[in-house]
Amino acid sequence: MQMKFICNNLADTEKLAENLADIISENGAFISLIGNVGAGKTTFTKFVCKYLGIKEKVTSPSFVILNEYKSGRIPVYHFDLYRLEKEGIKSIINEMEEYSEGKFVTFVEWAEFSQNSLPFDRVDININYLGDTKREFCLTSSGEKSGNILKRLEQ
Ligand SMILES: Nc1ncnc2c1ncn2[C@@H]1O[C@H](COP(=O)(O)OP(=O)(O)OP(=O)(O)O)[C@@H](O)[C@H]1O
Ligand SMILES: [Mg+2]
Repeated sequence: MQMKFICNNLADTEKLAENLADIISENGAFISLIGNVGAGKTTFTKFVCKYLGIKEKVTSPSFVILNEYKSGRIPVYHFDLYRLEKEGIKSIINEMEEYSEGKFVTFVEWAEFSQNSLPFDRVDININYLGDTKREFCLTSSGEKSGNILKRLEQ
């Protein structure tokens, strides 16, 4: 299943993030974020975390690879694979499969590095830059859990 949203500004992006947060707060989700530098991967993650009730400051984990936020309605794991080499990515993917099966929300930035080898049920979010504040969010599900999330988002 695939859905597209045009966000004309930050407020639209925040609204989409709020809707998604409400849906995933109970059973979790594995979300991979694909898009160029400055597309809005971290911005979108921050907004979803806000509506999951995360109190910690959400920052891009570019240097530390993984941030964990435990203060909200559900544990959140935030990966950034940007600085990982191929070997590092391989080992982290095995670890990620466990995250995709539990009641967690997992975000993976720069997931196009690993897109072909992510074998589990997830929501892929492609963010395309259309202008200063305009973005296209393209959401694709790859299994039952992620498909149900998109169905609810459509309503
Ligand atoms: N509608 C919008 N949705 C998301 N971000 C927007 C929007 N309009 C403007 N922006 C701005 O675009 C920038 C996106 O930067 P962000 O760090 O989130 O990108 P990123 O995809 O995580 O980049 P990187 O690859 O460097 O991690 C922010 O400064 C944000 O305020
Ligand atoms: Mg980022």
